[in-house]
Amino acid sequence: MAQRAAIVTGASTGIGRAIAGMLAEEGYALTVASRRPENLAPAAKELRAMGAEVVEVPADMRSEDDIKAVVSAHRERYGRLDVLVNNAGMGFGLPVGEIPTKQLDMVLDVNIRSIVIFYRECVEMLRAAGAEHQSALVVNTASITGKRGQAWLSVYSATKFAVVGFTEAMNRELAGEGIRSCALCPAFVNTAMTDFVKDTVDAEAMIQPQDISEAVRYLLKLSPGCLIPEIIFERPGEVL
Ligand SMILES: NC(=O)c1ccc[n+]([C@@H]2O[C@H](COP(=O)([O-])OP(=O)(O)OC[C@H]3O[C@@H](n4cnc5c(N)ncnc54)[C@H](OP(=O)(O)O)[C@@H]3O)[C@@H](O)[C@H]2O)c1
Repeated sequence: MAQRAAIVTGASTGIGRAIAGMLAEEGYALTVASRRPENLAPAAKELRAMGAEVVEVPADMRSEDDIKAVVSAHRERYGRLDVLVNNAGMGFGLPVGEIPTKQLDMVLDVNIRSIVIFYRECVEMLRAAGAEHQSALVVNTASITGKRGQAWLSVYSATKFAVVGFTEAMNRELAGEGIRSCALCPAFVNTAMTDFVKDTVDAEAMIQPQDISEAVRYLLKLSPGCLIPEIIFERPGEVL
């Protein structure tokens, strides 16, 4: 049994897949979750091929029951949680006068409500890890749009501001117990989420998923007395 265990949401592709791969390299046992099983299964297979112990749980982050199932599966298999990566997210681009309520609710639920529920369901395991080694870590994938409001991405942007604010609150509430949280705030990253803009922004000129996972690797190595509440990843020459 691995000495450290992590949950990664949105682990099937993109940033989450890169972070899960880095955690596998670092020797973490993993629970990986995302919505579509057909995307999650190959990711889990690749992580096992790297030598990691992996539990895969298809889960829709809109569903409280699904989130509880992810945490229960993790607890049953590993009995400990050292790192929680709240990474699953989604968005849409529309002018404010055209926002459908269904899409509004979906983005609020996936991008912020799920993170609150994950903390609630995981906090006892995180407390145990914090008491043991003072280095429990929660990484929340926000966005550069969580630092600067974006036209036509208003709901997405608002949820990412909420992620940054919730992360700050969690540090005030939990850091004293050895549970540090960090909000990742990247500009365009070369993942499926930015396919819509790749005819105007070259994928190679974007931030790469490994840039994000290497930053998380650094967070894992901090001494207990060092807290990094957020990391902003910008693109050279881009003013958002
Ligand atoms: N790419 C960027 O430019 C960028 C910039 C800043 C922040 N971010 C944030 O980074 C995070 C990861 O995005 P990415 O760029 O890596 O995009 P991605 O490759 O499209 O990955 C998104 C991940 O989230 C999962 N997901 C989406 N909706 C879900 C739901 N309802 N329930 C469960 N899982 C769900 C996806 O699983 P399925 O495919 O199965 O739905 C997938 O694993 C998101 O929070 C995003 O907002 C991205």
